[in-house]
Amino acid sequence: MEKQILEIIENRSLNKAVYKMVLKGDFKNIKNPDEFINISLKNFYLRRPFSVADYTLDTLTIIYKVLGEGTKEMTNLKIGDKLDVLIGLGNGFYDMNSQKPLLIAGGIGIAPFINLIKEFNKEGIRPTLIYGEQTKDNFILLDFFKDNTNLYLTTDDGSLGYFGNSVDFIRNNIIDYDKFYACGPIPMLKSLNNVCTKIGYVSLEARMGCGFGACMGCSIKTVDGYKRVCKEGPVFLASEVIYE
Ligand SMILES: Cc1cc2nc3c(=O)[nH]c(=O)nc-3n(C[C@H](O)[C@H](O)[C@H](O)COP(=O)(O)OP(=O)(O)OC[C@H]3O[C@@H](n4cnc5c(N)ncnc54)[C@H](O)[C@@H]3O)c2cc1C
Ligand code: FES
Repeated sequence: MEKQILEIIENRSLNKAVYKMVLKGDFKNIKNPDEFINISLKNFYLRRPFSVADYTLDTLTIIYKVLGEGTKEMTNLKIGDKLDVLIGLGNGFYDMNSQKPLLIAGGIGIAPFINLIKEFNKEGIRPTLIYGEQTKDNFILLDFFKDNTNLYLTTDDGSLGYFGNSVDFIRNNIIDYDKFYACGPIPMLKSLNNVCTKIGYVSLEARMGCGFGACMGCSIKTVDGYKRVCKEGPVFLASEVIYE
């Protein structure tokens, strides 16, 4: 983990609730897709955690959804503004050893998959992506996903793609994969255990205090006892998580 002061070089909306922010700094120490960063915001005591959606040696992209006051404040930040950020947090998707990866994203859970897809593409692998949203207007960056994955879209209201959620889609279709990688709402991750029986990884969220392993505030139950989302996670073996 390291602290850096990063400059905002882009901050724009992708749809009515989701924004893309690009930060300038030194990111040579980031190792895995879905490590996360923790941003300090003026007037907020706790930092806000966000997955690394994409990065180069000197730029880092986050994709964030406006939920509460902190993320709302982020939408007002301007190019050239500086942010105090902890980088290199969490483990990320550390097991890239898959020839036929299945990626499953629900809503803003799509964020860490941008970099994961690029990493697979670098190895000549085109992952299968099932990307679910409540309705068609919520999808982001579809051109990128169409170009670089075997893409299936699902919507809860049937306005685009498969009518239903990603778990229903998997249940009702034959998908050839060897490992799965999932990020999205807890009910989706929990239900995946019923339809994806191969080795898989889930990226979890938790309310965070410190963000680097000191406060235990983000602990979740696993078959091996409690583990911290910020330190042992956010990526866990799907089979080890006990959902409450
Ligand atoms: C490891 C990790 C990676 C994340 N990556 C992303 C990402 O790439 N993009 C993104 O949009 N969001 C991501 N989040 C969630 C993001 O941190 C929260 O949405 C954000 O902190 C909310 O801040 P706020 O001040 O706007 O909302 P608050 O006012 O703090 O809360 C508003 C609402 O959001 C809920 N909430 C707040 N924090 C979390 C959280 N950590 N998990 C679940 N619900 C929360 C609250 O219960 C409340 O209902 C991630 C969270 C974690 C732990
Ligand atoms: S947030 Fe403090 S230990 Fe995870």
